[in-house]
Amino acid sequence: MRKAEIEQLLAAALAARERAVAPYSRFKVGAALLTAQGEIVTGANVESASYGLTCCAERVALFKALTEGRRDFLAVAVVADLPRGATPCGACRQLLAEYAPEAAVYVADSNQPAQWREFTVRQLLPEAFDHFEGGK
Ligand code: THU
Repeated sequence: MRKAEIEQLLAAALAARERAVAPYSRFKVGAALLTAQGEIVTGANVESASYGLTCCAERVALFKALTEGRRDFLAVAVVADLPRGATPCGACRQLLAEYAPEAAVYVADSNQPAQWREFTVRQLLPEAFDHFEGGK
């Protein structure tokens, strides 16, 4: 992806991060997905008093996009207030491997978005379990 497109996607993730609902951890994360049609779908983490129900920014963005009919994803940007940024958790890696296997993953510190790191979904989750045949 071109630098300007990556920066635009990171900017969308930064804006989404402001809308995080993280009253427990106070750790705000923003994510932005780019579709093959050039649309950007954003998400932010949403926490629950029942902590385990928390949903990460990446999955919020992915679930929004999928349920709005988007299927083909070129990239996802993730920003958080952490040196070098926060890479997606294991659960999000699984969902990305299933629904955005070809997406480039851009991760950045929200204070230094110009210094992103780039990964492939396969790098983040090699040998992913991504489909199954019917039971025997
Ligand atoms: N979180 C994300 O939204 N994405 C990540 O990649 C890492 C963690 C959220 C979940 C929780 O609301 C908070 O960050 C602390 O774990």
